[in-house]
Amino acid sequence: MKKIIAYERVEKPVLEYLQQKYDVQFFKNIDPKTDPEFLEQLNEADGIIGLDLPVDNELLEKAPNLKIVSNVSVGYNNLDLEQLATRNIMATNTPGILTDTVADTIFGILIATARRIPELDHFVKNGEWQQSIESEHFGTDVHHKTLGIIGMGRIGQAIAQRAHFGFDMDIVYHSRTRKTDVEETYSATYASLDELLSTSDFVCLITPLTPETEGMIGKREFELMKKSAIFVNGSRGKTVVEQDLIDALTNGEIAAAGVDVFEKEPTDPDNPLLKMKNTVTLPHVGSSTHETELKMSELAATNLEKGLNGEKPTNLIDPEVWAQLHKGS
Ligand code: GLV
Repeated sequence: MKKIIAYERVEKPVLEYLQQKYDVQFFKNIDPKTDPEFLEQLNEADGIIGLDLPVDNELLEKAPNLKIVSNVSVGYNNLDLEQLATRNIMATNTPGILTDTVADTIFGILIATARRIPELDHFVKNGEWQQSIESEHFGTDVHHKTLGIIGMGRIGQAIAQRAHFGFDMDIVYHSRTRKTDVEETYSATYASLDELLSTSDFVCLITPLTPETEGMIGKREFELMKKSAIFVNGSRGKTVVEQDLIDALTNGEIAAAGVDVFEKEPTDPDNPLLKMKNTVTLPHVGSSTHETELKMSELAATNLEKGLNGEKPTNLIDPEVWAQLHKGS
């Protein structure tokens, strides 16, 4: 029977399905570098399915039978693709099915930050609403403002769709490649990063974390933003220099921030971002609805099974590995 490691997040029905067909061990809240049971299973594992397991050289050295790593996420910054390719190990992710859910979350954070929804919710629940509210509790309009989107992949486009058709926003975007279809559909304007930063009322970061994007938003970039700007990070914590974000908020370089992701996750309870009134902080739940998490687990399981059974997985991250494995066949 093939051996599978399930790590951190695989929805229960999918886990049960896999357990009927494979020898599956589920690990959660462990240190994958030292946990003895994990390391024992890793030594024999044919496949891994899960969320955010750091798959690097050190782990791969201990996984001599591994054939596929199936991420239950669209992001794959946890994977060392070079090391995987060197060993001809396939890797897959779950793009597409989470796009609308993540875009909803990002837009929710954007509105929540602009209209100060969590802060005012506490205000009411704490019994502080004793008389009619004053301008000190007013928020900022979202509709008809300028939204800068950094990263115009599937999720960036779904955010643009909401902003353009739902909120009559002007859209400026920056991305590795220009997308003329997006420009036409959402009346979006391509801009350099600096131009986007200095002209947007809302700056929304939704680019994947890569060596090129790591720390791409820091002190200089916050200084370029309007003092009234609201910054939203829905990508990965490490695309932003978190201390610079804290400083920018503290020094009034920007007005507010909404973040779903942190440099370190879970973030420390004493992170200054959690103490500020002008931040909205979520525990990395962009795609976390019951419906979408289930779909992601199902897609990841399908990718895993295909890989283990010699079929081409639908969502191969590096198709070259498949080509190498099937050279001459
Ligand atoms: C979520 O952050 C994902 O990468 O799927």
